[in-house]
Amino acid sequence: MTGGAKSAIELRGLSVTYGSRGKNDKEVRAVRDCSFSIARGDIVGLVGESGSGKSSALMAIPRLLPAGTKVSGQIFCDGEDISALGEEAMNRWRWRRIALVPQGAMNSFTPHLSVERHITEVLTHHMKMTRREGRECAAELLKTVGLEAQGASSVLDRYPHELSGGQKQRAALATALACGPDFLLADEPTTALDVITQKEVLDMTAALVRERGMGLLLVTHDLPLAAGLCDVLIVMKEGSVVEIGPSRTVVDAPRHPYTRKLIQAIRSLEERTETEGE
Ligand SMILES: Nc1ncnc2c1ncn2[C@@H]1O[C@H](COP(=O)(O)OP(=O)(O)OP(=O)(O)O)[C@@H](O)[C@H]1O
Ligand SMILES: [Mg+2]
Repeated sequence: MTGGAKSAIELRGLSVTYGSRGKNDKEVRAVRDCSFSIARGDIVGLVGESGSGKSSALMAIPRLLPAGTKVSGQIFCDGEDISALGEEAMNRWRWRRIALVPQGAMNSFTPHLSVERHITEVLTHHMKMTRREGRECAAELLKTVGLEAQGASSVLDRYPHELSGGQKQRAALATALACGPDFLLADEPTTALDVITQKEVLDMTAALVRERGMGLLLVTHDLPLAAGLCDVLIVMKEGSVVEIGPSRTVVDAPRHPYTRKLIQAIRSLEERTETEGE
């Protein structure tokens, strides 16, 4: 890292285009010339309507987009251009420096592997731990995310179908935290959960991120939720960043008409709910 600069992931002019799959299929320009950064110690919310390119931008960072996708622009991590790294070098950044909770993470567990195996595989592969060390570390991680042994049955030895949605999401977070990353990329980590569990899991994620001085990129549809949790908000529309700034400023004094529309829509919904409640 260069002289005193804050540790950060920085996207410069990122564009993502999905290739066409045939004669009648067009290319999709999912992300268009986007620039933003995620500093360590910051929680950055990426919001925008469905299809605006949030997941595409997020998945471009650890370079996990489908083969054949065209990506241009640069991605720096602590001043190093990671978009120029070879696959093997990039693999060393994944999990250890930059970890991911992908969209639908709670459905991405392998059914026949226990929670312990999911976490231990990451630790043995990326941290070169033994199975025994991995198991101990996995137990600690589960405690960290509030999944202690419940009664006689340790969550460690349960299979994905034996967990609730909230527990699965916590387990996905424990897996992402396994290698002590500097940055966490979380894509809609709680949308499938009820409102209370959603808040619990997000508050816990934010607390862990703050405690560890990590940087978090949180993708969500939910602007009020992001506004309450994030230091910085980025608003995307049709592949472009249309607004970026401290959360309070974006909510209280939105500059882009699209952000104003999003905020207005939320206010009208709140007013309607209040009137109905009277
Ligand atoms: N693998 C793919 N192949 C082709 N097009 C894709 C692919 N993945 C996404 N797209 C398209 O790219 C655009 C951006 O999609 P993306 O998933 O990044 O949006 P998003 O903001 O994350 O949406 P959501 O909030 O619904 O998750 C959309 O038009 C989508 O249809
Ligand atoms: Mg998405």
